[in-house]
Amino acid sequence: MLTREENEYLTRVGPGTPGGELMRRYWHPVYPEAKLRDNPVAKVRILCEDLVLFRDRSGNLGLVAERCPHRMTSLAVGIPEADGLRCCYHGWLFNAQGACLEQPLEPPDSTFKDRVKIKAYPVEEMGGLIWAYLGPAPAPLLPRWDLFVKPTGLRQIVSHTLPCNWLQVMENRSDLGHAVYLHGRLFQYALERSGRLTDDPEARYNATMTLQAKDIARGAETRYRPIHNRFGFTKGRLMTGQDETHRAWTIGINPILFPYLLAQGPGDIGIRRSYQLGVPIDDTTTWHMQYFCYDFPDELDVPEQDVVPYADVPLRGPDGAYLLDYVLGQDMVAWYQQGEIVDRTQEHLGVSDTLVIAYRKLLKEQIDIVREGGEPMNVFRDVTENESLELQVAGSDGAGPSLSAFGASIDYRGNFHKPSQGGWLYIDDDADRYCPDRDLIVELFGRAATLTDARAAVPT
Ligand code: FES
Ligand SMILES: [Fe+2]
Repeated sequence: MLTREENEYLTRVGPGTPGGELMRRYWHPVYPEAKLRDNPVAKVRILCEDLVLFRDRSGNLGLVAERCPHRMTSLAVGIPEADGLRCCYHGWLFNAQGACLEQPLEPPDSTFKDRVKIKAYPVEEMGGLIWAYLGPAPAPLLPRWDLFVKPTGLRQIVSHTLPCNWLQVMENRSDLGHAVYLHGRLFQYALERSGRLTDDPEARYNATMTLQAKDIARGAETRYRPIHNRFGFTKGRLMTGQDETHRAWTIGINPILFPYLLAQGPGDIGIRRSYQLGVPIDDTTTWHMQYFCYDFPDELDVPEQDVVPYADVPLRGPDGAYLLDYVLGQDMVAWYQQGEIVDRTQEHLGVSDTLVIAYRKLLKEQIDIVREGGEPMNVFRDVTENESLELQVAGSDGAGPSLSAFGASIDYRGNFHKPSQGGWLYIDDDADRYCPDRDLIVELFGRAATLTDARAAVPT
């Protein structure tokens, strides 16, 4: 439980708020590059600020305040020119640095334009996303987290803009326990109601609940602890009967990279890896993104990607009802249904919320650091240090615990490409089903399996 003041302190992201000042020390993804190719001018909103992103005809990216300082129309309907963005109304031209280059309706010898400037922020491209920095100069380096920069992998971005605060999305990253009920029991119930529940024991929902029933029957208790590192923390988890030398307890799983990036793994880094990011658009809006990177074997000749494809995933079906038959959809509904901003004065946290509390504590510490004039974690200014950052997190080097160490609820990934008894492809039980290249991914999983079988058949 938090006081009202504490809740405000942690959740608000507007200019001048404690949380907003912390967030202004970081680069944020603001738009997919694929969409900017469709239209080189886009209205974006980030940290409660309305902005316009553009790519001019020379290829320069710019991010400027939405309102033209002349008579305040929106530059989102502006025209990209050779060296900037022209306002549609009277033709004032602004470059990516916010300088006013032309005021074509003013007298030719006017110097008025030299006294007009528009707010402009640094932008960079990385991994198929456009990133922006809204904080004090000098801007730090854009962090090169592994999946955004690694040279191999088939990437896909799926996202949804949710009407709720970023922190409740982020708290879900710490909440390992929820998977049993939200992605197990609710999944079963949703499929039961639509007549699609199968008895396939390997299906995620059934495997999860079978394991849970066994754990309850033997009176098992799960312990959690944060294992802090210089980027955030990994989540230590130990169940009754497991040895305290278990890697899930000593190294932890699924690193949280502060402030809001979740790296799936290390127990899950076979072909499919992903990041989840909950980007604060404003106090009550979060752009939630799942960033997939599928590393298929080299022999499969995975097609080169000119741009990372992007798609929005639905919260509701055509009938307006929540879509509860895929994992990310279940998560999104839970976050949304907590309310616009969770009223944390009313909650009742238990022992199983240890990692949620750990994240709040870390967030408060980092906000406090900025208030006291310091630099928070994960602000990088050294180019060498900024190479392949995530690989420096313990357990993210591929030497993590085996899949089976975490039980069937995760081991199902090994069967990703196989249909279940109900004809249901495992790829369809999560947001992967909305990947623009879904059919290609399914085909590649099939070919990867054939390759694995062929390798296994070769006598050694
Ligand atoms: S309102 Fe933009 S040029 Fe006049
Ligand atoms: Fe979840």
